[in-house]
Amino acid sequence: MSRQAVVIALPPEEMAPVSTELREAGFEALGVHNADELESLLSSRRNVAVAVLDGEGDFDTSLEYYSVLHDGDRSIPALMVVSPRTLDRLTANVTRTSINDEYFTRPYSAESLRWRVEAMCIRSQTVDDGSGVILKNGGPDLGDWSRRASVIAVFNPKGGVGKTTVATNLAAALQLRKDQRVLLIDADTVTGHVSSSLGLEQVRTLADSWRDEAEGGDAETLFDIAAAHPSGIRVVDVTSDPLHMDDLDPERVAQAINLSRRAFDYIIIDLHPSYGPLNQAIFREADQIIVPVTPDVPALRAALQFRDVAAEMGVRERMAMVINRANSGVSVTDMERTVGMPALALIRSGGLLFVRAANEGRTVIERFPKEKISEDFEALANRVMAPNAPASAAATAPMRGLFGRAKEPVRA
Ligand SMILES: Nc1ncnc2c1ncn2[C@@H]1O[C@H](COP(=O)(O)OP(=O)(O)O)[C@@H](O)[C@H]1O
Ligand SMILES: [Mg+2]
Repeated sequence: MSRQAVVIALPPEEMAPVSTELREAGFEALGVHNADELESLLSSRRNVAVAVLDGEGDFDTSLEYYSVLHDGDRSIPALMVVSPRTLDRLTANVTRTSINDEYFTRPYSAESLRWRVEAMCIRSQTVDDGSGVILKNGGPDLGDWSRRASVIAVFNPKGGVGKTTVATNLAAALQLRKDQRVLLIDADTVTGHVSSSLGLEQVRTLADSWRDEAEGGDAETLFDIAAAHPSGIRVVDVTSDPLHMDDLDPERVAQAINLSRRAFDYIIIDLHPSYGPLNQAIFREADQIIVPVTPDVPALRAALQFRDVAAEMGVRERMAMVINRANSGVSVTDMERTVGMPALALIRSGGLLFVRAANEGRTVIERFPKEKISEDFEALANRVMAPNAPASAAATAPMRGLFGRAKEPVRA
């Protein structure tokens, strides 16, 4: 897909840095100075994705631009600078879903504007992973009476965003800092490495147990099968055989999880990045679905795609984002707006601490309890235990100084 063009109608002192920033991000940046110019530009090209307008400095001209953007069957979203008062009024009245325009206020940084443009471009594309999954809603909750543990799935359809890292260290934080009984399930045989990163080689798997049962052995629960890690976490691999992952009956896996709720306080599941039937069954079984997102466009795009799939499955309300490697200068608010859900917590970049801990088969919570990153996971554990507490403010407060601030205001 070729990069899109962005039309910019801003005062000259803002035009320059904004154009530079957008060009560096690979956009074509096209300055315009009046509505006629915009009209002739739009009639000659098809790749204009967004128009950046100044509704604060010159509202009348912006209205002219706006009607050009929506002339005939044209509908190009506008990103409009407005006064804070106008923004308040707009956000109070607008039902977000149907309107593609966005608003922002001064001062802003060229970088945050670029980020907003990226987000608008992502949103304007129909998200479709091409797999055409038809998803049915979860059935009646069968084992409600037996429930005890809360089931938390950790998922993002993109690899490398920190699913395994978040699952493992959240498990350790709940077990060690919150005194909860935790079962950690590795349901990603393909790219996962939960048990090996915890120094547990050759653990017995759910697939092993089923095979033994089929050959006359006793039926076992996940509690029976699980290996004990020195931290106290119990660990189960679903299977050790990536080739036969799909042979596992998804409903039977979900049922095994459900039955083991009685033995634990939290069941945390590290998922394979796919929308296969096993994951669908786990989404339906989960009480919360944590979506780790790194501050980059592919990870955000993946999270957005998942949001749509989750909505189709009827599990959208269970989703919560965790911002991982939250150190790129991208503001948390922008990420929350882009993905359309609040951040449950932020996990900073831990550098080599994860590697060093894994080399010893330990989590960072155990190995580096005093490091800030361990506090981040404890904060996440707190949020998981109180999912209904006000989201965003609590999540962002401890690190606002690091991540919540716009850099280099273009205009004060
Ligand atoms: N906050 C972080 N700081 C430093 N390294 C991280 C962080 N989160 C993840 N990593 C590293 O990034 C790599 C990918 O993370 P992983 O948890 O395996 O992602 P996923 O399970 O989504 O594929 C791993 O090497 C992991 O140690
Ligand atoms: Mg993983």
